[in-house]
Amino acid sequence: MTDITPAWFEPEALAFRQRVLESIEGLSPLALAKRVEQLNHKQVTHLSQHCLNLYPGTNIMSPRVAALLSSTIATRASEGHPGAKYQTGLRWSEETEVVATELVRRLFDANYAEVRTMSGSMANMAVLNSLTEPGDVIFSLSTSVGGHISHQRVGAAGYRRLEIHTIPYDAQNWEIKLDELRREVKAHPPKLIIVGASLILFPYPVREIRAIADEVGAWLMYDAAHVAGLIAGGVWQHPLREGAHVMTASTYKSFGGPPGGIVVTDDPDIAHGVDRAIFPGMTANFHTNRLPALAVAAAEMLAFGQDYARACVDNAQALAAGFKEAGLTVAGERQGYTAGHMLALDVSAQGGGKTAVAALESAHIICNMNLLPWDPLRALHNPSGVRLAVHEVTRWGMGPQEMARIAQFFGQVLLEKRSVEEVRTEVMALKAQFDKVRYCFDRVTAQAISVSD
Ligand SMILES: Cc1ncc(COP(=O)(O)O)c(C=O)c1O
Repeated sequence: MTDITPAWFEPEALAFRQRVLESIEGLSPLALAKRVEQLNHKQVTHLSQHCLNLYPGTNIMSPRVAALLSSTIATRASEGHPGAKYQTGLRWSEETEVVATELVRRLFDANYAEVRTMSGSMANMAVLNSLTEPGDVIFSLSTSVGGHISHQRVGAAGYRRLEIHTIPYDAQNWEIKLDELRREVKAHPPKLIIVGASLILFPYPVREIRAIADEVGAWLMYDAAHVAGLIAGGVWQHPLREGAHVMTASTYKSFGGPPGGIVVTDDPDIAHGVDRAIFPGMTANFHTNRLPALAVAAAEMLAFGQDYARACVDNAQALAAGFKEAGLTVAGERQGYTAGHMLALDVSAQGGGKTAVAALESAHIICNMNLLPWDPLRALHNPSGVRLAVHEVTRWGMGPQEMARIAQFFGQVLLEKRSVEEVRTEVMALKAQFDKVRYCFDRVTAQAISVSD
């Protein structure tokens, strides 16, 4: 028999796969369906009810947004611009598409918004397709200082066959080295400079980088995957107002919407190029259920975004202070730990990030191991850092008092080695007090949506 084992998987992934395959051996199609439904239920309950989810690249959707995302409109094909679609019968979906685009455009104070992208990486890919040709030079941040793989050879930028240069970075001071960047950009003139990262604690000198880009006629893109919710809420630098030509983002991280990506710009040529990259370039149909969900998430951001974003910043500061009191090392202390919702702990003295996140997971606290800017790339599988963010717990309604409790849990798990069972019980008890999503409109029942409205 042919061996169909994906030999390129990691040993632990192969062992996991083997266990799962054995557990479904001989099940009927109906039993398989039930098994998957059970798995899904357990997964949803675990993360949204039993854990403190501090992983930065995620969030909880509001009940209204979640309800729209499960709409059966998902499978309806919708190609082209609303009002001039290739398919017929989509009148209300087309109207929704216009509303979603308009709300995102308004929220980010931009002339144009593209909302059909199915992820932040695809949004980046669309901009790369719009602004570069294969062989062009780009500058981006290294993954070792938090840059994202879609700006690198293994991701979208590599797929576009770009020549990728690294933005010089002062790891100790969490700063782009502007003079060096200017020198390097002059030596290797790029088509595009990308700032923005997965580990994003402090704003970038966007105005200064735009001036450097202008010296060589390069575009400047800001990847706001993680900070879109903060920008929408007005507590983070506004990339377009500070000089970026285009901004991309994910819609399900701090933004709190459905999965997906967006691109916003004031430049009609960039908007046109992105539009063509999305369709017919990268997608035909775009999961039509995302747009009503995105539109309502954007409306919720318009209504509650400022309060939400401010609460995120306050909570991040409270958590950092709590960590310090617990005896943990918070990265970026000299710079004020963070200007946003994300924090990084240096856990090199506690066995490294891999050990730390595993111990925290046992206590039902979810975050991720992460390279810190001074780590070598080869430390990827056990870096010094733990990356976490407070936007989800903030949406559950937690405040500075709860942040102090959470910091104590970290200290108990990572420093005091208290029994994880005991900590887990207290983590679950704390989470149980916060079971309603905040900063959103009240839930609406199907009956309340009148067809005549
Ligand atoms: C800086 C940055 N850009 C882009 C992305 C990709 O977003 P998505 O996961 O929506 O493809 C991420 C994702 O985590 C990110 O951190």
